[in-house]
Amino acid sequence: MANKIDWTKYFDQTKSREGTYSYKWVDYEKTDIIPLTVADMDLPTLPEVTEAIKRRADHNIYGYSMRSKNPNYKKSLITWYNRRYGINIDESSIFFTPGILSMLTYAIHAFTEAGDNILIQTPVYDQFANVIKHSDRNVVESKLVNNGKWEIDFLDFEEKIKKSKMFILCSPHNPLGIVWDRKTLDKLVEIASKYDCMIFSDEAHSDLVYDKKFTSLIEYNHKIIVATTIGKPFNCSGLVIANAIIKDESIRKQFVSVAYGKFHGMMANVLSVDAMIAAYNYGDEYLDNLLLYLKRNRDYMDDVISSLNGVSWIKPEATYLAWIKFDFDKPEERLLKAGLKVNPGSNYGDVEHCIRLNYAIPFELLKVVMDRIRDVVK
Ligand SMILES: Cc1ncc(COP(=O)(O)O)c(C=O)c1O
Repeated sequence: MANKIDWTKYFDQTKSREGTYSYKWVDYEKTDIIPLTVADMDLPTLPEVTEAIKRRADHNIYGYSMRSKNPNYKKSLITWYNRRYGINIDESSIFFTPGILSMLTYAIHAFTEAGDNILIQTPVYDQFANVIKHSDRNVVESKLVNNGKWEIDFLDFEEKIKKSKMFILCSPHNPLGIVWDRKTLDKLVEIASKYDCMIFSDEAHSDLVYDKKFTSLIEYNHKIIVATTIGKPFNCSGLVIANAIIKDESIRKQFVSVAYGKFHGMMANVLSVDAMIAAYNYGDEYLDNLLLYLKRNRDYMDDVISSLNGVSWIKPEATYLAWIKFDFDKPEERLLKAGLKVNPGSNYGDVEHCIRLNYAIPFELLKVVMDRIRDVVK
């Protein structure tokens, strides 16, 4: 980049998403309602990603492309993990998929049968249960416990995993913003190994960790599929690209057979490949500054929430998703009347009084959001 970027100004830009048919905004564009739902950001990606897409788009033949022959493809992911987390990934363990949910569908079909149990830790990202149910498997829930910090009830977890074929870990956790520490992960993997239960570790938000150290399940030896993506940290979810990291050689063949043979998930969108390479090669400064910006948003929310009665949260350690509890029923309805569209907590499990709110928005807009919340509870 020729000019140094003032990142605060960069993220302060407010950009209408009108005309892009944004999943989050499309129904609210002509209203006073601010949608704070779907997990993408109202903040721009890095210039290098846009330039890479433009460069590729300028070559006006968009035919099938062999991403695996592009020497920069896997290399960019390997060097990113090595540089940022000190993790070594072998090239042979990386498998492309068009998104994490399609990867999860492939894994469920490759490693479980109709009628099998799949364990999740609720409240959790609602699409896990959705994919499990639509694959004719059973959702088994182990509830996370609020003891001032989020904790796992290991007795319950072990009881449930005994009867399950697969366990889906959300790490970091959406919607609770938990960063699982190594001790907890050691215990989870140990229990899963004891009952020979495969783990699907959804690490979609792994690059969005504020202060704690992130531990990836890539570092463990068990039947594990780790899902990673540029979607969340670089706001590229619409480009539809993800990677599975499968260290255990014994399960790779079966995954590939289902993912590429049965579901034909091997063809990447040509623009997304260039975007991924640019994001991983040039995204460090962007991500460091994005985290500072998001952290300021989170801390501002914390100040406001602490000053209010009847509202509480546990400050998220990662992601840009807030899980907020109110002292009245169906807060999403009162918030909507006040001009805020949020996800009801009941989407994520059997919980009341809670909502999920996406705070990856320009700071000035966040102030409006928090003023509206203040008005609702006063
Ligand atoms: C934890 C988690 N996993 C997966 C997804 C979806 O990923 P993809 O769009 O790659 O299917 C999301 C999106 O919100 C998410 O939060």
